[in-house]
Amino acid sequence: MLKISVLVSGGGTNLQALINAQASGVLSSGRIVQVISSKDNAYALERARLANIPADVVSFKDCSDSDAFEAKILEKLNKAKPDVIVLAGFMHILSKSFLDKCSANIINVHPSLIPAFCGKGFYGLKVHDAVLKSGVKVTGATVHLVNEIPDGGEILAQKAVEILPNDTPETLQLRVMSEAEWVILPKAVEELCRKIDPKIFPKPVKYPGRGIITGMTESGRIMLAYFIMGRSKSSKARVFETSGDELIIKLVNPDKDLDSSLILYSPIRISGKNVIVTNGDQTDTIYEALESGGSFESALRTREYEPDSPHYTPRISAIINESGYKQSILKRAGKFFFEYEFTKGRGHLIHTYNHDVTPDKVLPSFTGEPREIKICDDMNSFADSLWDELGEDYRVALYVRFYSPDFASYSDKIFNTKSL
Ligand code: GAR
Repeated sequence: MLKISVLVSGGGTNLQALINAQASGVLSSGRIVQVISSKDNAYALERARLANIPADVVSFKDCSDSDAFEAKILEKLNKAKPDVIVLAGFMHILSKSFLDKCSANIINVHPSLIPAFCGKGFYGLKVHDAVLKSGVKVTGATVHLVNEIPDGGEILAQKAVEILPNDTPETLQLRVMSEAEWVILPKAVEELCRKIDPKIFPKPVKYPGRGIITGMTESGRIMLAYFIMGRSKSSKARVFETSGDELIIKLVNPDKDLDSSLILYSPIRISGKNVIVTNGDQTDTIYEALESGGSFESALRTREYEPDSPHYTPRISAIINESGYKQSILKRAGKFFFEYEFTKGRGHLIHTYNHDVTPDKVLPSFTGEPREIKICDDMNSFADSLWDELGEDYRVALYVRFYSPDFASYSDKIFNTKSL
């Protein structure tokens, strides 16, 4: 779930529209975690209090200049670390230096049909006053992304509102708000949250089985992740453990009669500057091939899917080094290889089964190409969201590793359902 901060200066009716949208479910992909008001007497603060949303005041009039004001706003934002900031009746233009320091997506609602009646000096009732004086017959509202040009960022939504013969700036403002702003703002915020949400799976996960992600983060860190899910008692009793820079799997209560050949293996091994990740003992096949001058492909061509009738679980594998990554799936339909160059903020996910299948059936193999997914820079939040998405019923373990851009060092994170 994404975090939303709302910046306000006045009555806060747009904030209220967002709060209502959250209650009705129109806004469900993000949650308002913070309200910041530039005025200490803004009614928006009362609306936040009634909705139990933490609210702060950064009083513009008490700041020596706009740099000091922006620094204080940033300080407050850094505490909540929002993914999205909504300017909902926030009567200040944010500077380029503020925008450069702020990594969140910023959205603004403006009470006219941009590019008309917008930019510096056009805010609140002044907009409606200018609209009426101009004699236009239609106005409206715009929701747009914020960039360094006042009211100049990409338009996300607009709605037109008719001007009536006896309109005053006040009556027009109320109609533009109720017919346009309160309608399009919550929807646009929801759409933006959905678009930028780091969700790995497009639909809630049922049983993707085992999965590998390789790729590059937004700032150029090379990353990989491997997860296992399980249904049987022994499969669920597995635990990931690091061994140097490799990953191994152990069993919580080893049973000597159990055939562990398909559940105990090294998911990650390193050969020179290559990191190998797989869901079985083909890790060793690839490792041995690389050590003796062979390749990822040549090694995998000697192997096939698992013999676990009736599923015939695919063998999925990946290799990643400084110049890019490859993924492969060996399944009954054939042996498939995929090769990718690095793109910042992008990775690919391959998993063993079609993820939306119910796990009590024969498990159909993964189909299609590895799915392109977004990779953020924050390893902990990436790992947390993936673990969360895997769900409590079948997830067993997850390992995530983010290398430094020069590939020389890394940070990692392990989740295990069970412990040894
Ligand atoms: C709204 O009409 C909003 O579009 C406008 O101020 C009003 C605030 O109402 N914002 C701007 O003019 C920004 N350029 P609210 O405080 O009740 O949401």
